[in-house]
Amino acid sequence: MGGVLTPVLTDNWDAERSWTLASYEARGGYGALRKALGMAPDDVIAAVKDSGLRGRGGAGFPTGMKWSFIPQDNPKPKYLVVNADESEPGTCKDIPLMMASPHTLVEGVIISAYAIRAERAFIYVRGEVLHVVRRLRAAVREAYAAGHLGQDIHGSGYSLELVVHAGAGAYICGEETALLDSLEGRRGQPRLRPPFPAVAGLYASPTVINNVESIASVPSIVANGPQWFASMGTEKSAGYGIFSLSGHVQRPGQYEAPLGITLRQLIDLAGGIREGHELKFWTPGGSSTPLFTAEHLDVPLDFEGVAAAGSMLGTRALQIFDDTVCVVRAVLRWTEFYKHESCGKCTPCREGTWWLVQVLARLEKGQGTAEDLDLLLDQCDNILGRSFCALGDGATSPITSSIKHFREEYLAHLTHGGCPFDPAASTLFAAEGAVR
Ligand SMILES: Cc1cc2nc3c(=O)[nH]c(=O)nc-3n(C[C@H](O)[C@H](O)[C@H](O)COP(=O)(O)O)c2cc1C
Ligand code: SF4
Repeated sequence: MGGVLTPVLTDNWDAERSWTLASYEARGGYGALRKALGMAPDDVIAAVKDSGLRGRGGAGFPTGMKWSFIPQDNPKPKYLVVNADESEPGTCKDIPLMMASPHTLVEGVIISAYAIRAERAFIYVRGEVLHVVRRLRAAVREAYAAGHLGQDIHGSGYSLELVVHAGAGAYICGEETALLDSLEGRRGQPRLRPPFPAVAGLYASPTVINNVESIASVPSIVANGPQWFASMGTEKSAGYGIFSLSGHVQRPGQYEAPLGITLRQLIDLAGGIREGHELKFWTPGGSSTPLFTAEHLDVPLDFEGVAAAGSMLGTRALQIFDDTVCVVRAVLRWTEFYKHESCGKCTPCREGTWWLVQVLARLEKGQGTAEDLDLLLDQCDNILGRSFCALGDGATSPITSSIKHFREEYLAHLTHGGCPFDPAASTLFAAEGAVR
């Protein structure tokens, strides 16, 4: 693994009108589809398994293995659903990918659906990003017109219908089973498992749900072979991924690199931290993953390396905060988000996230006591592992990790009678109505 960028998914992003079929095909696009249609579906699954591709939506489940769970003796229709709900604070890789190169995803959908023998596929896209919905729908229309979608694709005998479905703006609908309920027209709330979606998913039929980036990686694996993919990254975290750097770096943006790269290398590529400032804390994979500090600059950003250092690779949403940022304030903002997005199905998350905001808000205003830190940790303990889905667990991550690394900063709010970074901050928060 080197610090070198590996543009694969992002390779055509700066091409002239990169989102059009003509531009995509001029660079070899849909070549992998033709190759896949000449292979047996099980061989496509085997190639994805051999590549070592792990889900890019956060949990890192092996993609080929997930596909092989689809029971082919089940007479019901099979479905492929792409999770394009991308709403985690800091996560911003799928939306640019779909804007810049929607055909990479569409080609990936067709190959993946062929592999699992699905004749209908859905892209569930976050409803707020109307520009992305339009772009995807235009790409799907182009793909139908070119014969890449529809009946008897390129004379192979294989047929696929692809629907782009716009969600209605709820973070919980990114949770795969809530997404399925939402797609079926119900209120999006997580389902009890088992049964798992592979057995009884959409319309109680066998369903594969994968993240945009996972599916978009499939054409390159088919085109170049599994060994090519596995030659990048680390032994257990193969391949490349999009690392989204946001916040206080000179050049925020998408950096596609082998898994296992470090934040130090990525910050170098991004031109360093804002001039005159230092790195204070960062998220390795969005706001649901425990915070890291400057001590963790050399942690390999792969599934194992980040876990060993006490966090999660998540969605590689690297939010970088420099020394001007109050960690208590940042954590309060995130916790407000989780409180707002809690779907209300289970008590630990519905009630717990509300209480977390109450305690954090008074600490941030310098009105709490030192015991409130233990109270917060106790509340987190009552949410983590006791919630119905991972939203509740994720809500505790910024709090427990920030108390671990920045206890003194919490206490400084108490001795200061407010935020030591900005004396006006606590009044500002009250005025904004952020604290209820
Ligand atoms: C609250 C919550 C929100 C999620 N949001 C997303 C999302 O926006 N996109 C996504 O791909 N996965 C999201 N996930 C993870 C999905 O449940 C699921 O693991 C993923 O789509 C599987 O795809 P993969 O195997 O390709 O990673 C979310 C999970 C939770 C608990
Ligand atoms: S953890 Fe939160 S989001 Fe998940 S089911 Fe419970 S209330 Fe809903």
